[in-house]
Order: sequence, then C-alpha cells, then structure tokens
Amino acid sequence: MSTQADPLRWPAEAIWASVVPEWPGFSIEILPEIDSTNTELMRRARNAVHDPILLLAERQTAGRGRLGRAWHGEVGHALTFSLGLPYQPQNWSGLSLAVGLSLAESLGPDIQLKWPNDLWRQQRKMGGILIEAASQGGKSYAVIGIGLNIQLPPTTDLRTPAAAIAEFWQGATAPMVLERITQPLLKALKEFETQGFAPLQQRFNARDALRGLKVQSSDALEGLCEGVDNQGALQILTNDGRQSINSSEVSVRAL
Ligand code: BTN
Repeated sequence: MSTQADPLRWPAEAIWASVVPEWPGFSIEILPEIDSTNTELMRRARNAVHDPILLLAERQTAGRGRLGRAWHGEVGHALTFSLGLPYQPQNWSGLSLAVGLSLAESLGPDIQLKWPNDLWRQQRKMGGILIEAASQGGKSYAVIGIGLNIQLPPTTDLRTPAAAIAEFWQGATAPMVLERITQPLLKALKEFETQGFAPLQQRFNARDALRGLKVQSSDALEGLCEGVDNQGALQILTNDGRQSINSSEVSVRAL
C-alpha cells in the first residue's frame, strides 16, 4: 500500500473545450506549487501578459485572502485557482458578488453568500474570493482568485468556523468541483461585463446569509441588514436611516 496521496487528475481539456468558444485564446495551467495564483497572475500582468487563463495550484505557499489575511489550503483539501481575464466592465461594483453567486448556484441550493465575497453553508465559511485588477494602456485585466474548501481544513484554529463541499457532496474532489463550476463562472463573467450586477440583485438577495440579521460593520455601522442594492452595495438600516456599504475594505458580521 502506498502512503502517498493519489495524484490529482484535472479535467483540463474538457474544461478548456467548454470555455474557449466564449473566451478565445483561453488556456489552463496547473502547477503543483506556487506562492499564490493571484500573486503570479498580477506579476504576469505587470509584464504585459494579459491573456485569458485559469491558473491552478495544488498547493499555495503564500495564499492570500481579503484584507491582507492569509489563505491556507492543504493539497486535496482545497481548490485554489485564479482566473486572469482581459476585462472591461462598465462598472466593477458587484463583481465579487457575481462570482460568488455563480459558484453558489453551481454548488447547490443551500449555499449562501456573505457579503462581499464569502461562500457560506450552515453559518460557516466554505470559500472566499479575492479580486484584483491591473491596467495598462487603458485596458484592464482582472485577477479573480477563488479558494474553496473541499474537505474540512485540518486546523481548528480559524477565525471563522469552516464548512466543506464534501459535507454535502459525497466523494467530491477538487477536480470534480473545478469541472462543475468553471464554465458557468466564465459565462457569468461575460454577462457581468456587459450587464453589470443589476440583473443578479434578486438572486444574490435570495442567498444572502446576512439579510434580516442585525449586523455590525468594521467601520462601526450597526443595524438590520436589508440585502444589497442593484450595484451590490450592502444596505443597513441603522438608527440614523439606511446606509450603504460598497467598500470591499469593510467587513461585516452578524451580531
Ligand atoms: C478570502 O476569503 O478572504 C479570499 C480567499 C481567496 C483565496 C484564493 S486561493 C486562490 C487565489 N490565490 C490567492 O492567494 N488567493 C486566492
């Protein structure tokens, strides 16, 4: 019996064939290890490499989360990849919500979204999204990093309790999850580029983990969460009236 983990088999060709009609020039690159797939695509963007790509790493040694936090994922326990896309939406606001919504809809009816970019299930975090952008000569390039827990992380020392896809999808592996989510996600990203967030508002609100709860933001707003507006800004009914939060630098928690 071998003590080594089975190598992961990635369905790169099938995914590529389903995506390339909508994203000409699209490629898929799978690496055993890198510091961070987002960091790597931002490095390439600074060197004027702006082709559409899915860059996946089986292991990240310096995975990054939002607000300067670290993102940890063990090989096989997490799916970690970034999409790098030449991208010119009229309005970027709500992009992380659109990405989260597509992932949630691909994964199941009980996956919720915690504004602005977390996937939740049963009040626990199942994944996160980190969006960065570069621009050069008036053209912009989006780097959309996605980290999803396939299995529960071995550490219990987390700021937020974790959920995992294998809890509701028995036998799920990172390659199976990648195959399920990628084509719908790239289609959703094409639609967002031309239509923005407004057509997604109701679907987001139906999965909003904070809606109807008393919440507090990191910039000290407190009140009842009323979902998001048609730009994806979080609406909080405070004692001073309704306030909108649209900065991705702000985090919000239920009280
Ligand atoms: C968050 O929850 O704050 C966002 C987590 C995003 C993690 C993904 S994993 C792939 C990509 N590379 C990174 O370094 N981060 C993102």
